[in-house]
Formats: sequence, C-alpha cells, structure tokens
Amino acid sequence: MRRVLVTGASRGIGRAVALAFAERGDRVAVHYATDSAGAADTRRRLPGAGHAVVAGDVGDPDGAQRIVTEAVAALGGIDVLVNNAAVAPSADNRHSVTEVDFPEWRRIWQQMVEVNLFGAVHLTYGVARHLIDRGASGSIVNIGSRGAFRGEPDFSAYGASKAALHAFGQSMAVALAPHGIAVSSVAPGFVGTERQAPELTGTSGEALRAESPFGRVGTPEEVAAAVLYLASPEAAWASGAVLDLNGASYLRT
Ligand SMILES: NC(=O)c1ccc[n+]([C@@H]2O[C@H](COP(=O)([O-])OP(=O)(O)OC[C@H]3O[C@@H](n4cnc5c(N)ncnc54)[C@H](OP(=O)(O)O)[C@@H]3O)[C@@H](O)[C@H]2O)c1
Repeated sequence: MRRVLVTGASRGIGRAVALAFAERGDRVAVHYATDSAGAADTRRRLPGAGHAVVAGDVGDPDGAQRIVTEAVAALGGIDVLVNNAAVAPSADNRHSVTEVDFPEWRRIWQQMVEVNLFGAVHLTYGVARHLIDRGASGSIVNIGSRGAFRGEPDFSAYGASKAALHAFGQSMAVALAPHGIAVSSVAPGFVGTERQAPELTGTSGEALRAESPFGRVGTPEEVAAAVLYLASPEAAWASGAVLDLNGASYLRT
C-alpha cells in the first residue's frame, strides 16, 4: 500500500488516476481547487479505506505547501505525487498572439505558468523534502502534454508550461535519483474527458479522431494505466522519461 497525492482529481484524468491507484489497494488524497462536489464524488467512487480529500490552489506557493502538509497529515505520509492539476486550453483562455491585447496575453501567460508549472514545482519541492526527511523512496509523475512538442498556436502559454514541466521533471529525475525518488512525465494527446466532450461532437470530433491512425482519441483510463506503471517500483529505471500517449498522432524524433 502506498500513499498517493493526485492533484486536480475532481474529474477527468485526475479522477481516473485516483481510481486506478485505489483499485490496486493504495490510499489516495484526492485534491481539488474549486469543485468540492466533484472531489467528493471521486472520493466516493474509490474502493478501499483511508482515502482523503484536500483542497487548495496549486498556483499559490503557500497553498501548494499546505496541500502537501494536509495530505501528509491525512494519509500519514506521501509516497507518490501525481502532478495533474492544470489550467487546460478552453474558449476562455485562448490567446492567439494575433488576437488578444497585451494585458490579456500577460494575464493568461501568468495564470498558466503559475498553475501548470509553478504548481508542480512547489508540490514537488514539498513531497521531495518529505520523502528525503523520511529516508523513503518514492515516485513523482507529471501530466504533461503532446502540445509541448507539437506546438499550441492558440495556447502558447499552455504548450510552454508543459514543455517546462517535462524539462523540470527531467532535472528532478537527476537530482532525486540518489534519494531513490523516480520522476517521470506523460505527454498525452487529446483525451476524451468530461471537459473535452463538446469538442468531440460534429466535425471537430471527426478531425480530432482522425489525428490518430487508430481513428479515436485517448481515454483517461489509458493515461491512468501509464501513470500507475511509471509510479511503480518496477519503473524506477524509466526515471527521466517523457512518455508519449498519443495513439501515434505525433511522432517526435
Ligand atoms: N484532456 C486532455 O485532452 C489532455 C491532453 C493532454 C494533457 N492533459 C493534461 O491532463 C491533466 C488533466 O486534464 P483534464 O482534461 O482531466 O483537466 P480538467 O478536466 O480541466 O481538470 C483539471 C483539474 O485541475 C484542477 N485545477 C485547475 N486549476 C487549479 C488550480 N489553480 N489549483 C489546483 N487545482 C486546479 C481542477 O480542479 P477544480 O475542478 O476543483 O477547480 C481539476 O480537478 C492536465 O494537466 C492537462 O493539461 C489533458
């Protein structure tokens, strides 16, 4: 049994990851920012006992530290951190360089970097120091994105925040290996979460499914299965990896 903190687990990929760990007997701290009902629903669906719910804005450095402290208190320690919480692309935060004014450009860049990068950075600090202080091994898995490699023309801050997250994870893989802590990332392509459901209708849905030669988009469960593997002791040698999960829709060299 491991103690696992999954950020952004009120729905979507975070919820699927929380379920996957609980189904193999681990105890999970279900983290959320604003959707307390969603987090409670995730918690209710988890098999097994000893799970917890923790709240907080990961974009606030003090908030990130508090999330770690509360998860440690609730679970009795943390062995695995999954940095999943993020501000994902949406109609509200589109920031094409040719369309938005400068204040809007700055606002969205700041928000995406603070949450998607600094959130993971500060949580990683807290969990790494907790593991080192305990003399325990552990794993950290970051949820990155294909957009880091393929480009995000209308959401450049999102693509850049995810590229930085992959690079941060690789630096941490080197820094933390002497302490027995493995750090890796996954880079999913389009995943059919609740948030993405409207995109999957009509012609936009057809185009998204056609991106992969499998003729479909990914599922949250497929991402969760990869996270489960990367967080396992058997995957220590994959530390530093950035694993593509995109159905061969984008092959980087
Ligand atoms: N779905 C995709 O197609 C796809 C593709 C590639 C990568 N990803 C990555 O996979 C991860 C999950 O994606 P998803 O589609 O499941 O996302 P989602 O449905 O939008 O869920 C995002 C989660 O992050 C939390 N969150 C947002 N801002 C936060 C903040 N400031 N502090 C703390 N938590 C915050 C949300 O909490 P509340 O709901 O409580 O506010 C929610 O639980 C993200 O890192 C995303 O970038 C997704």
